[in-house]
Amino acid sequence: MLTFEKQSLSDTTKLAQNLAAFLSIGDLLLLYGDLGSGKTAFTRSLVQALGADKNVIVNSPTFTILQQYKGHGLVFPIYHFDAYRLENIGAADQGFEDYINGDGLTIIEWPQFMADILPGEYLKIEFVYDKDKRDITISASGDHYRKLLEKL
Ligand SMILES: Nc1ncnc2c1ncn2[C@@H]1O[C@H](COP(=O)(O)OP(=O)(O)OP(=O)(O)O)[C@@H](O)[C@H]1O
Ligand SMILES: [Mg+2]
Repeated sequence: MLTFEKQSLSDTTKLAQNLAAFLSIGDLLLLYGDLGSGKTAFTRSLVQALGADKNVIVNSPTFTILQQYKGHGLVFPIYHFDAYRLENIGAADQGFEDYINGDGLTIIEWPQFMADILPGEYLKIEFVYDKDKRDITISASGDHYRKLLEKL
């Protein structure tokens, strides 16, 4: 487990750039943390660090659970989930499994609401925002992600 304390937006960007260098097709990132804790901001930095043009917009999609980023400078697709609205219905039977460990990178905000379909191996990134201080803690489940974590 690795904790990065007192993360400014530019610290977050640097952390995302560092992580991006070690990510590959099929990887799964689970982003935990309260509303406004910085999950989307981190995802935006990551998408840019993976080569997306500046005109690729990354935000928390209000009405869509899944946002896909393809082309526009990206070497592989990125599947960005915000599962917040699945809280009461779960993620089963919607075909979301196809996007996990598939042909791209999968990033999930509010993964606790997709727990019914998540595999056992992933990189977990936790965002804590408290008293104007932002900490990011990264931990790994599975050998592949443990090796990745060692590189950070
Ligand atoms: N490290 C940071 N330093 C300063 N401001 C930040 C940082 N990370 C995020 N922010 C700001 O905090 C606000 C909320 O961030 P963000 O949208 O990333 O939260 P979120 O975790 O995705 O929330 P939600 O669960 O609602 O999707 C944004 O205005 C963002 O610019
Ligand atoms: Mg968000």
